Amino acid sequence: MSPVSTPAPGVRHTDFTFRCIACGNLSDTASQNFRCANCGDLLEIAYPGWTRIAPDAQTLRSTWRQRRLSQSDVDLSGVWRFRDLLPALQSDDQAITLREGNTPLYELPQCARITGLPRLRAKHQGLNPTGSFKDAGMTVAATFARRAGFRWVACASTGNTSASMAAYAARGGMRSLVLVPDGKISWSKLSQALDYGAVTCQLRTDFDGCLRLLQELVLRAPVYQLNSINPFRLEGQKTLALELLEQLDWQQPDHIIVPGGNLGNSSAIGKALLEMRDLGLISRLPKLSVIQAEGANALVRTLREAAGKRLISVQAETRATAIRIGNPASWKKAAHVLEATEGACEQVTEVEIAQAKAEIGAEGIGCEPASAVTLAGLKKLVKQGFVKPQESVVLVLTGNLLKDPDYTIDFHRGDLFKGTPNESASAALNPLRRPPIVLDATLDAVIQTLEQAEKS
Ligand code: F0G
Repeated sequence: MSPVSTPAPGVRHTDFTFRCIACGNLSDTASQNFRCANCGDLLEIAYPGWTRIAPDAQTLRSTWRQRRLSQSDVDLSGVWRFRDLLPALQSDDQAITLREGNTPLYELPQCARITGLPRLRAKHQGLNPTGSFKDAGMTVAATFARRAGFRWVACASTGNTSASMAAYAARGGMRSLVLVPDGKISWSKLSQALDYGAVTCQLRTDFDGCLRLLQELVLRAPVYQLNSINPFRLEGQKTLALELLEQLDWQQPDHIIVPGGNLGNSSAIGKALLEMRDLGLISRLPKLSVIQAEGANALVRTLREAAGKRLISVQAETRATAIRIGNPASWKKAAHVLEATEGACEQVTEVEIAQAKAEIGAEGIGCEPASAVTLAGLKKLVKQGFVKPQESVVLVLTGNLLKDPDYTIDFHRGDLFKGTPNESASAALNPLRRPPIVLDATLDAVIQTLEQAEKS
């Protein structure tokens, strides 16, 4: 039994409804593919009349602060601690939680010097229980899957969603089915799904092919889909922004920068910012910018070539396999929040990603390549004058370094770009490489290595 959670004077659990992002149709139930029964577009969760009935900002802030002193499961979760802005549970012990959230906000002094931005920080979502930001969404969506009585949950994934889903399904006593592209996800992520007991299918297709198949499957079999099309996922992922603002003492940063793949996370953060503004928790919106890998740049092209009106999908290719996605499901939601917050959308090359990842690593902060696009993109936004030297910036690091150790080893050994068109351009990154050194086991050899390292 968990200790009793902290009550919130004046704060009541939130009633919710599903709202179509295109036609605005409201509904109390959602079909298995989470698409509008009228027009087929994506659904989001809405809280009608919220701003009228919600407590004032000061009450919310102090309730959330007070819960940090509690030892109950829901209060120890960095997601459910903010449950006043989430779909309501019938009772606190319904939540399937691994104490997700509660991730640190770090200063990045070296990257600050490199970019010329003294007020640069990183919110490290890679320090969640399964090593990525997915846990914040999964705790909410898995909880509602169990509440709806499902025995099976399923997802298509580039690796992190499947790791997270498998863990939360196991904790919640549900079975899980994982569809991943064969040979295109890291072993670390695959090993997590296996260890947590998922039925794991490596399909001979890419992520987009896996997701397409899942959409058909959920209409035919009694499985509950836990991709970010599921709007409960995005509600949980909203809490990243709430926790960030709390860590900044409710002083909004000028910019938040996030990687873009299937575009669920940017949509969730943007939704949180708009809701925080409507509830008076912040007075001004930070600019939310999305960065993609050049080889998986569907949103960049959609905004530049189609003014955000229709999706331009691409055949995705990048070593940042987490965001190797060409047909992002939540592109409309992301386009909306970029417009609402006046954020930017940029793309970065494979060499720029590798450089940024090594620079973040040299700060003692390990992230996966997909997370490093944020720093690479920031450099471009500074050059363009979109981010100004006195402005404050938060990079969202989405995954842990240990999620993709092969990438890091290949980089430091000098193998990452071998035999690719980037081989010569990547020579500029040699000073950042720290390859392992194989030596005879003698004191002299080690001392000599130390002396050489001191000179370099
Ligand atoms: N960073 C990491 C580490 C990711 O795993 C993902 C997405 C993203 C960024 C992009 O986030 O899709 O919300 O725009 N990974 C998914 C997965 C697709 O299956 O694990 P997004």
